[in-house]
Amino acid sequence: MIRISVPGTSANIGPGFDTLGLALNIYNYFRFEEISHGIEITGCNKEFSNENNLVYKSMLKVFDKIGYLPKGIKIDIDANIPVSRGLGSSAACILGGVMGANCLAGAPLSKEEILEIATEIEGHPDNIAPALFGGLVISIMEDSKVIYNKFDVYTGIKFVALIPDYTLSTKDSRAVLPATISHKDAIYNISRVSLLLSSLSNGRFDLLKYAVKDSLHQPYRGRLISGFYDIINKCEEIGCLGLYLSGAGPTIMAIVDEKDNDFILKIKKYLKSINYTWEVKELRLDSYGTIIEEIN
Ligand code: HSE
Repeated sequence: MIRISVPGTSANIGPGFDTLGLALNIYNYFRFEEISHGIEITGCNKEFSNENNLVYKSMLKVFDKIGYLPKGIKIDIDANIPVSRGLGSSAACILGGVMGANCLAGAPLSKEEILEIATEIEGHPDNIAPALFGGLVISIMEDSKVIYNKFDVYTGIKFVALIPDYTLSTKDSRAVLPATISHKDAIYNISRVSLLLSSLSNGRFDLLKYAVKDSLHQPYRGRLISGFYDIINKCEEIGCLGLYLSGAGPTIMAIVDEKDNDFILKIKKYLKSINYTWEVKELRLDSYGTIIEEIN
């Protein structure tokens, strides 16, 4: 049996659309076993316990690619990453499946090949790369190859995820984006990505409030999230360092000084006062990424 843990992720980090992502200390755990026949999937709703399961479908991609024919597959899923909330749950399922299949087949694939197969399934690398490697990862597509660089974030910050009680699919959230953007908007984002990476690198966290701003996706997606601008204003007022839409949303991510214990109390109180049902979760960067925890 093989046990694998995969962290949740927060992609884009504001201006780094489809490029930046960071891993968080919230995990999906997967157990894989080759059995004598059939498919057994446990730990998820019945509607997902079949051959359409994303973990299973991701395994099939690997088996197909490497020419391995398992007799049967057993998958047990212990998922803690909220689904369709912009916290990388699908990337975690894809990576779990790809890594699990690779392990069952005797680990013929390198990490780079795993990254490429998982990215091909997901469609973009910005959740997959940090989920695999941990930390903050910059990843770009060059033809169909993923070029990436893991980046050291200066210590002193934590992440507070404001997670609404409704889902937003990446497909729907991408559908509201314009097909083209202006030169002005491109410059707006290039300049902020540069400022963001430099301030995360040298600890100039006072610059984050400018650096996480975005003109490529947040202005369009913000409209899909009730109370988005009010919540942003409140978070700024009560002292977060920077605020962005996590991945395709609807989770709003606040970057907070790690010593600030008031922010969470204040934002919980505010969210309660406006009658929205939001879960507030304090998270830290995960530096390790996907881990094969046990093989026996
Ligand atoms: N970069 C992607 C997006 C992340 O914003 O659509 C979601 O998976």
